[in-house]
Amino acid sequence: MKTPFEYRNGALHCEDVPAAEIAAQAGTPCFVYSAGGILARYREYSEAFGDIPHHVCYAVKANSNTAVLRQLAAAGAWFDIVSGGELFRVIHAGGQADRVVFSGVGKIASEVDYALASGIHSFNCESESELDLIDARARLHGTRARVSLRVNPDINPETHPKISTGLRENKFGIDIAGIERVYEHAHALPNLEPEGVSCHIGSQLMKPDPVMESAARMIDLVGRLRARGLPIRHLDLGGGLGVAYSPGGSTPSIRDFVERLSGRFAGLDLTIFVEPGRSIVAESGILLTQVIVRKRNQLKEFVVVDAAMNDLLRPTLYEAHHEIRPVLQRSGHTLTADIVGPVCETGDYLALGRQLPAVEPGDLLAVFTAGAYGFVMSSNYNARPRAAEVLVEGGAWSIARRRETYDDLVRGE
Ligand code: LLP
Repeated sequence: MKTPFEYRNGALHCEDVPAAEIAAQAGTPCFVYSAGGILARYREYSEAFGDIPHHVCYAVKANSNTAVLRQLAAAGAWFDIVSGGELFRVIHAGGQADRVVFSGVGKIASEVDYALASGIHSFNCESESELDLIDARARLHGTRARVSLRVNPDINPETHPKISTGLRENKFGIDIAGIERVYEHAHALPNLEPEGVSCHIGSQLMKPDPVMESAARMIDLVGRLRARGLPIRHLDLGGGLGVAYSPGGSTPSIRDFVERLSGRFAGLDLTIFVEPGRSIVAESGILLTQVIVRKRNQLKEFVVVDAAMNDLLRPTLYEAHHEIRPVLQRSGHTLTADIVGPVCETGDYLALGRQLPAVEPGDLLAVFTAGAYGFVMSSNYNARPRAAEVLVEGGAWSIARRRETYDDLVRGE
């Protein structure tokens, strides 16, 4: 798919809106999302499944702004959540609770109660104690809870260690060896309705092979569980498909990925769930920031901008590369600099040793591929109010979250 961001006559646009216009009115730092880009990605998933029964459960953690959730809910998306707060956001955005699956390794009783009272579709359970907890809470609610077992298939997803989840040593899921006994336990609990199995091996996966391998292991497992007479209606393969962060890289095709997967499910009488986050929203978001000052020491040059690690943590936390370009193209000199924020930490940077046109104080920069795991991972560190968020739809844009104020900083203290 074509990216929703392009330069027209030297000026960066999001869909049909000049990025500079948004910065002038909404201020910086500011996240800008393209509704068209997000919906195109969602539809690519959903259409690629064709006739295979499926649900595309958008992983809310990637970008939980209610304007984004509202768009996806209206398009028919299901949602994958990992906390009561995410469920609240989905409902607040007009999403249907019965289209929600609840993942996560440490659900607490109050979250389970909230999910049961809201009538979510199912829980992806990560331990036997969690099964017992949900069974007990479901009894109190006078209901039966649909559950699926999150399996740890012990697969190396070949990604950054901090976002790899499917290896035996990771905290996630239940060991695939011995899962039959746990499923039988779930089946025996009176207030649970076991529906299926799920897995999620990691995030920012650039090659389909580990996912294919885990799908093969899961299909094999479904066969073993059914052979014991256990009911299996759905198989949830999690999320994880990566996107290209550097200009040279290419983003894996959602369509090819799903079609390869679908080939394996024909005739299995299973509803397939997927939980993509990043691949739906990452490339449809940028972070706009303004250059505050340029400074040089004996060793190198710094471009100090008004966005910092509290706004976009990924470079600091994962050594992640995000492309950074001026909002108004300039020709002529280039410079090589560290692009850093105002936060008082050496680890506060958006890019190190980056080549850039010779920008000046006041210039606007766009940090690309910031639609996923951007604002959601931001904080108020250094008492910095969190950035504004904007949603663009064609030639129109609106504030999706206003910039925080100093009063917001002390609210509740
Ligand atoms: N399902 C489960 C159970 C997950 O744990 C995750 C991500 C997803 C789905 C969505 O994965 P995606 O399609 O977005 O790769 N903050 C990190 C990414 C952490 C991902 C955590 N789990 C980053 O900025 O790269």
